[in-house]
Amino acid sequence: MKFTSLLAAALLALTSCAFAAPQQPHIVILATGGTIAGSAASNTQTIGYKAGAIGVQALIDAVPEVKSIARVDGEQIANIGSNDMTSDIILTLSKRVNALLARDDVDGVVITHGTDTLDETPYFLNLTVKSDKPVVFTGAMRPATAISADGPMNLLEAVTVAADPNARGRGVMLVMNDRIGAARFITKTNATTLDTFKAPEQGYLGVIVGGKPHFETRVEKIHTLRSVFDVRDVNSLPKVVIIYGYQDDPEYMYDAAIAHHADGIIYVGTGGGSTSVRSEAGIKKAEQAGIVVVRASRTGSGVVAPDDNMPGLVADSLNPAKARILLMTALTQTHDRALIQDYFQNY
Ligand code: SIN
Repeated sequence: MKFTSLLAAALLALTSCAFAAPQQPHIVILATGGTIAGSAASNTQTIGYKAGAIGVQALIDAVPEVKSIARVDGEQIANIGSNDMTSDIILTLSKRVNALLARDDVDGVVITHGTDTLDETPYFLNLTVKSDKPVVFTGAMRPATAISADGPMNLLEAVTVAADPNARGRGVMLVMNDRIGAARFITKTNATTLDTFKAPEQGYLGVIVGGKPHFETRVEKIHTLRSVFDVRDVNSLPKVVIIYGYQDDPEYMYDAAIAHHADGIIYVGTGGGSTSVRSEAGIKKAEQAGIVVVRASRTGSGVVAPDDNMPGLVADSLNPAKARILLMTALTQTHDRALIQDYFQNY
């Protein structure tokens, strides 16, 4: 080859290196169902539709704009209403997310999920994912077939957050309605409205404005990489039930939990986790039967603090559904009450 052709070839190689498009982040979308994948008979129907009717590829195809943000693949983990979500499915999901994030070619994961139990699954992954790469849940309050369905924008914003390097190390997140919530605190606060996900005391991690995430706070509680919990070799989760406290609440609910061999009970106490005389007797009986009981609050926010005069451990600021997730996870590795109480204070 002549010197001039060699020079031209070298120049071409140099310029194509200099101007090569930066590699897009690779985000995997795991779909589990919910209203975001819901389908109704008419575009004005926003109740009484079928949740979990549309597959993951159709969800992705409805938002071609994601391709300008990330290279996206989809996998269907389940296609159900989240009221039917089970411990087995969340365990499968956690294992799949761990396997994906262990790969060098995956930069983050987005999970689509029904909103009804969308304070539970993200918190389980917050405790059990062994990576600081972004894990972002999203859902929708209006089915995919509705006028002004919120799912497509929520999915686009969830992928945007998952693809943002600044989203690393913040724990598992929920992105809906232009807001970024922390799995540890966020909960559904309204049965029907679009702005339903809130953390009454702690607020949001950040917001999305003009397609850009703006992070404002970090979570103090332990999560993901620093979490001691590892369920990658766990085949099933312990059985933890929830018993609600109210005037005239009966003691026989505890007998039922004992008869059905529950491993743990979350007692949803009045006020700061207080018990009636019947609940107190039931909790003591359950503890004698080897069941770990944790008192939470039915008020919706605030801390249930330890009290030597009352039976049971306490849930700190976890709502009852999240307290159940932590107790199930903790019981995979210990029955030591002091250690479990320590987890409730720190996770
Ligand atoms: C569900 O939780 O699957 C149904 C409700 C919703 O996604 O909003």
